[in-house]
Amino acid sequence: MISDEIASFALEGKLALVTGASSGIGRHLAGVLARAGASVVLAARREPVVTEEAGRLNEQGGKAAGIAMDVTQAESIDAAFEQIRSSLGRYPDILVNCAGVALLKPFLEQTVEELDAVIGTNLRGAFLVAQRAARCMADQGGGSIVNVASTAGLRPGGMLSSYGATKAGLIHLSKVMAYELARKNVRVNALCPGNIETQMHREFEDAGFAQALLKRIPQRRFGQCSDLAGATLLLASDAGAYMTGTVLTVDGGQIVNSI
Ligand SMILES: NC(=O)c1ccc[n+]([C@@H]2O[C@H](COP(=O)([O-])OP(=O)(O)OC[C@H]3O[C@@H](n4cnc5c(N)ncnc54)[C@H](OP(=O)(O)O)[C@@H]3O)[C@@H](O)[C@H]2O)c1
Repeated sequence: MISDEIASFALEGKLALVTGASSGIGRHLAGVLARAGASVVLAARREPVVTEEAGRLNEQGGKAAGIAMDVTQAESIDAAFEQIRSSLGRYPDILVNCAGVALLKPFLEQTVEELDAVIGTNLRGAFLVAQRAARCMADQGGGSIVNVASTAGLRPGGMLSSYGATKAGLIHLSKVMAYELARKNVRVNALCPGNIETQMHREFEDAGFAQALLKRIPQRRFGQCSDLAGATLLLASDAGAYMTGTVLTVDGGQIVNSI
């Protein structure tokens, strides 16, 4: 028999929005939420890709739809939220705010255009999506926001100045949001993956950092998208009902590596 505590991880009746769902972590987590019972909207700029992925989830018995959203454009975010409400009758109860871009370059070489692009997606974009979702959740009586930050926002990483700064900003934003929104029944937490093998991570591997990175990970392996499933379900579901303002690392121990 499943106890109420274990059943609280289930997401039946919940509507989840996942940004960055056309690839890597977001795509995988959309599947996890669907398999846990949520209706899931997968958002990204590449609308055909998220629509195809939603179709795959539906074939497996899920309830999913794809939607176009460019998180750098406020109008695109608004349009996506209104499309969700008009097609599904309400706004999301869960947001996995996962859209992001990486920039692997020495501090002295980064251009203002590159800086603006990283901030525009990872911080400004994440802010706008989280704000839009939080307003809807507050009106609907509550919800859970999982901001996908990074261990690069917790400790310095070479060549990651602008990327790490946006993730540090997102971690801080998550804490302030948690504080301001707690009495509106909206929980906000930051999920900090370490090195997860995705398209984005391949840039690091291709730059020849793989072996050096592995040596700094106590578990001596890179993470897989599936390694983030448990933490995401915990934060998204009622199992994490008393968790808000948390910064949860999933990194094989990298952050506690010996100095
Ligand atoms: N992989 C890692 O080791 C790692 C570690 C820590 C944190 N993270 C974070 O996890 C998140 C996902 O990373 P990933 O490794 O899965 O990378 P990925 O495979 O490159 O996926 C990035 C996703 O972000 C979307 N995206 C980028 N710009 C966007 C925009 N302007 N509007 C909407 N969507 C946009 C992309 O979709 P479209 O191109 O279709 O728009 C894609 O779905 C990122 O926030 C990343 O910083 C990753």
